[in-house]
Amino acid sequence: MFKRFKMKRKILITGGAGFIGSHVVRLFVNKYPDYLIVNLDKLTYAGNLENLKDVEDKPNYVFIKGDIKDEQLVRNIFEKYDIDGVIHLAAESHVDRSIQNPMEFIYTNVIGTVTLLNAARDYWKDNYQGKVFYQISTDEVYGSLENDDEFFTEQTPYDPRSPYSASKASADHFVRAYHNTYKLPVLISNCSNNYGPNQFPEKLIPLSINNILNFKPIPIYGTGENVRDWLYVEDHAKAIDLIFHKGKIGETYNIGGNNPWRNIDLIKTLCRIMDEELGREPGTSEKLITFVKDREGHDKRYAIDASKIKRELGWEPETDFQTGLRKTVRWYLNNQDWLKNIISGDYLNYYERQYKNRF
Ligand code: NAD
Ligand code: DAU
Repeated sequence: MFKRFKMKRKILITGGAGFIGSHVVRLFVNKYPDYLIVNLDKLTYAGNLENLKDVEDKPNYVFIKGDIKDEQLVRNIFEKYDIDGVIHLAAESHVDRSIQNPMEFIYTNVIGTVTLLNAARDYWKDNYQGKVFYQISTDEVYGSLENDDEFFTEQTPYDPRSPYSASKASADHFVRAYHNTYKLPVLISNCSNNYGPNQFPEKLIPLSINNILNFKPIPIYGTGENVRDWLYVEDHAKAIDLIFHKGKIGETYNIGGNNPWRNIDLIKTLCRIMDEELGREPGTSEKLITFVKDREGHDKRYAIDASKIKRELGWEPETDFQTGLRKTVRWYLNNQDWLKNIISGDYLNYYERQYKNRF
């Protein structure tokens, strides 16, 4: 009905006010002035329109506050904006919250995804030509690795071990099932840990930056030997752009930083950078490291084999970790109001309950 949008593409990005979503929205709005970008976000504790201040007035950008589980709203958006592509990022994304309250993860990550799939299928069903439903997933669906020489490939069987990863795995299965059953044109990518500006400060790196800044303990779960593969968020956004445009329908692509770090080593590096940036005595921040009770079911190691996306689409991470980490630290130091504004309300309550009583 909304064919009056004479744009080349009309893309629905879900979760565009969150950490990764805001970088994807910015990239698409600026790089493709002839695309209409519709951002549907519920603005949960993790969504923040401050992340998108620089694009909010662009003529090719529309923001809609709403829930991906709201079937009528989602169907209306497809109709109204004649959506021909979906990049689906909206999710409950924090493992620790999923351990506390799994239901919310099932509602948003599973039912929300299926609500979007149904709307896409119904709106596109007469013509799948040029349409794509792109599911943004995680390496956590593959489970946990034991050894340093092991990597997740696209063939690694799913073995989710937390309520979060189980909900993402379930959503991925529905996406594949809709491709197999209804021929819905889908793409999936599974990415490793992202870091960079605008990440909500309950995740390891921004939480630690905030605590160091305020001389608070840095909580390291267990012995700090768990390994994560870190990727700068703008590199992820570029991979998403490439897969959306060049990915082969029905395929899965792993995205990773080729950059596995033990948590304790990463935090020591971060402490050193923070001391330098804040002009503190070397060693000041490291004294804040505090080992706390381990996360229940804590996955030991994630590491991505990203050779397929390199071979087939020519993507590689561009930002080396030292540069990316320093850029991230500087962003948080220059945007302390952003931090202060969001460490309030729901988050503070959660933070008080989950972290403060550990010390
Ligand atoms: P985030 O928690 O920062 O943002 C999630 C966004 O989704 C928020 O803006 C929130 O308001 C919105 N949202 C939540 N529930 C919603 C609902 N029911 N309806 C509409 N909007 C809703 O998450 P993130 O870290 O940016 O992750 C984005 C996506 O990428 C997720 O699907 C996540 O599983 C995936 N992913 C994240 C990482 C990572 O390291 N952060 C790595 C790989 C994959
Ligand atoms: O691998 C991709 C995933 O990365 C994404 O799918 C998730 O959405 C994202 O949240 C992230 O999950 P992690 O659980 O790996 O991220 P988090 O920042 O919570 O934790 C990173 C590591 O640091 C993990 O081993 C747990 C540990 N940790 C975390 C926090 C918050 C600590 O030791 N202390 C902490 O306070």
